[in-house]
Amino acid sequence: MTIAAPSPPARPASEIPVAPSIPLLGSLPWMAVDAAGFLERVAIEKGPIARIPFGAAGMVMLTHPDDARYVLHEAARKYLRGEKSRETVQPVFGNGPAISDPPFWLRQRRIMQPSFSRARIATMTAAMNAVAERHLARLTDGQELNAHDLMLGITRDVIVETMFSQQLPSDIATLDSALAEIDRYIKIRMLLPFRVPLSWPLPFNVRIREATAAFDRVVYGIIDRREQGGERPGDLLDALLDARDEETGERMSRKELRDEVLHIFFAGHETTANALTRAGAARAAGEARRAAAERSATARHDRARAVGPGAGALRGAERRGRTLTGSPRLHAHGRWRSRTVTAPHPGSGA
Ligand code: HEM
Repeated sequence: MTIAAPSPPARPASEIPVAPSIPLLGSLPWMAVDAAGFLERVAIEKGPIARIPFGAAGMVMLTHPDDARYVLHEAARKYLRGEKSRETVQPVFGNGPAISDPPFWLRQRRIMQPSFSRARIATMTAAMNAVAERHLARLTDGQELNAHDLMLGITRDVIVETMFSQQLPSDIATLDSALAEIDRYIKIRMLLPFRVPLSWPLPFNVRIREATAAFDRVVYGIIDRREQGGERPGDLLDALLDARDEETGERMSRKELRDEVLHIFFAGHETTANALTRAGAARAAGEARRAAAERSATARHDRARAVGPGAGALRGAERRGRTLTGSPRLHAHGRWRSRTVTAPHPGSGA
């Protein structure tokens, strides 16, 4: 569907196709099993706008790029993240750019944008290539590996390298287990249809509070060392430390910096690993299809000449050696994000 200006008139929400659901729980049973796979199937079967009965207010899922541009760019002020979606993650994530709303969001964007200019990113490519080379050098011919784990390792190390210039080798295990716990918390929290205050003394809450405290100790430790005159290697953290709001000259507070670092870790790490895994799997499937086609062409040719076995293409494929096995999360190249609409979405009535 294309959304052209001026926007088409809104239609009643009742006309929007609805995803599979059951009374009271809505689409939760499907989301709990495989949220990304379920949403992908709904998009294919129901089209670019679909209602997902999920949570108290339900959701409307938009999957066409024109709609994404409209929501994230052209009419962003009408689509707010809102207090409701923030309250679940704020105790851990603070108020970083992926959960804040204007005007604070605009201030954050003004301050951080120059740190991600094309020229600055170009300065990071040598580090990114070095990390990828390091991981590839550890692989051996014929080795079976989980592609998603490999990509997660690469993207994690890219962020550590570009953000902290390897200043945390001894803290890396602490950071890793803290991030894994935070990831688990977010995944479960996003699916819970009710709110469990973080202050309740449940084992789950205790673990996430400890993980957040561990992450803070590591990150505040590095920020403090640099602010107290420690080494400034000119990495992404330095860029964020030095960044100023062009309009007001203000810099980020210590807490804003910490929130920003956590956001970049989360927003950039697994998303990119998932996209790379998916691309690698698509490429491997293409190669396998080509090898099979070559194999059957060779077999036909060999049968015609009554000489066998002649599976040169297959031997070629086998010689390529490194095998990528499937990833449990091939569907998910990015987690869904929700916003609360404050005016009708064109053509949806939502
Ligand atoms: C294939 C890789 C990626 C995917 C699929 C992805 C997906 C997304 C999505 C869906 C959002 C939410 C948009 C919204 O509702 O506002 C988002 C926001 C964000 N992402 Fe990514 N992302 C990727 C890579 C990265 C990387 C590498 C970084 C950082 C190094 C990053 C940093 C951010 C930040 C800071 C935000 C918040 C932006 C804002 O609202 O100001 N992302 N991303």
